[in-house]
Amino acid sequence: AAGSDFVVVANRLPVDLDTAPDGTQRWKKSPGGLVTALEPILRSNHGAWVGWPGIPDVDVDPFDEDGLELVPVGLSAREVADYYEGFSNATLWPLYHDVIVRPVYDRTWWEAYVEVNRRFAEATSKTAAQNATVWVQDYQLQLVPKMLRMLRPDLTIGFFLHIPFPPVELFMQMPWRTEIVEGLLGADLIGFHLPGGAQNFLYLARRLAGQPTSRGSVGVRTKLGVVQVGFRDVRVGAFPISIDSGDLDEKSRRKNVRDRAQQMRGELGNPKTIMLGVDRLDYTKGIDVRLNAFLELLTEGRVDPEDVVMIQIATPSRERVESYKHMRGEIESMVGRINGEFSRVGHSVVHYMHRGVPRDELTAYYLAADVMLVTPLRDGMNLVAKEYVASRSDLGGSLVLSEFTGAAAELRQAYQCNPHDLNSVKDAMVSAIEQDRETGRRYMRAMRRQVLAHDVDRWARSFLSALNRTGDDVPSHL
Ligand code: G6P
Repeated sequence: AAGSDFVVVANRLPVDLDTAPDGTQRWKKSPGGLVTALEPILRSNHGAWVGWPGIPDVDVDPFDEDGLELVPVGLSAREVADYYEGFSNATLWPLYHDVIVRPVYDRTWWEAYVEVNRRFAEATSKTAAQNATVWVQDYQLQLVPKMLRMLRPDLTIGFFLHIPFPPVELFMQMPWRTEIVEGLLGADLIGFHLPGGAQNFLYLARRLAGQPTSRGSVGVRTKLGVVQVGFRDVRVGAFPISIDSGDLDEKSRRKNVRDRAQQMRGELGNPKTIMLGVDRLDYTKGIDVRLNAFLELLTEGRVDPEDVVMIQIATPSRERVESYKHMRGEIESMVGRINGEFSRVGHSVVHYMHRGVPRDELTAYYLAADVMLVTPLRDGMNLVAKEYVASRSDLGGSLVLSEFTGAAAELRQAYQCNPHDLNSVKDAMVSAIEQDRETGRRYMRAMRRQVLAHDVDRWARSFLSALNRTGDDVPSHL
């Protein structure tokens, strides 16, 4: 039959088009966990992936990559500015992360969001076989489920939100709140990381139900876990995402990775404690929070600059968005201030890198770190916390973890803290630094049991079996 039986739709393709300094372009695998998890299922089902190639103004036809069909959706420079940087990352991103930064509501951006969502829906409609399963990903594409259902009522449509879903009091700010809720309700199953997000959505659907607007009403009835739209049931549930934990566990046992971790410790002068942060440079991640906490601990003498060093890896992200530029400035000035006060020649207290790090090298960093700092003000899940745990096959290390992450619901043996309460962050850091070896091994063993048992493959399968209503099994055609 023509078309694919399983289609993943995401803002980004699993490969990015990369432009070399000499102007030549090449596809580079983007290292996301989602690709790894879905690849086997995609390949065995004539799978296709619809997404943006990651740079503006390219027009590429669908192509086959080892039995996986890639369907590029091109965006103009204007659309990158209005749909991606604007509506997705300066409106939805801050609104869904507790308005840490004030969301900008711009009508031109909204129009671009509608237009780009329509193009994704059209490309998907052309790609999917009769009765195919389509899985739409994340906040950039919330209108696609409804648009796609209108084009192709035969499809089974799932949607998963990878970021938090905000409480109704915040969501109601959105000028296009009805359109977004209706867009999502085009799906058969809507997944969130946590029951709280699912509850927020159900409450919101009830709140908007029957509320007259110039464009009509949502007209829904909700019951536990289900929204009824006319005669159609839309199911809503929690599916906490994870990582390829087995792969990281295996990597962390390799000799070259372990040697590299030892070498890193040596290069830092074998300090008593290495603290590590690994994040996209984003204001939601609380990088400033952990730097402030560290500065206060050093100033008060609770932490000795000769004993403790902090490494912060900050991967560049969304650099043309104003709030990201601003946060970068804040973080870099704070790093300068801490080093200015507490470093000496040959010994910096903060090591800051504004760049990405290859996978093997990252695993070595995790292994070298005594204390992992994960302090977001709000985070849907936070996979770094899970990666750290999966990498500690030696049972060493400790995790400082913000309560405001999805991961906090699963990693109960972390040193949890409230990132809005600096004393709580400082106390968690000190407890993690001073943790005795036996307690640490016990905590790490418990967290590893959780992360190794609940990997990303299990996540994908549980969503897809719920979507296709095949009980606990993977649907037979997937
Ligand atoms: C978050 C979002 C993803 C997004 C990723 C990287 O994890 O949930 O949808 O792809 O950040 O951000 P970027 O804007 O570079 O795709």
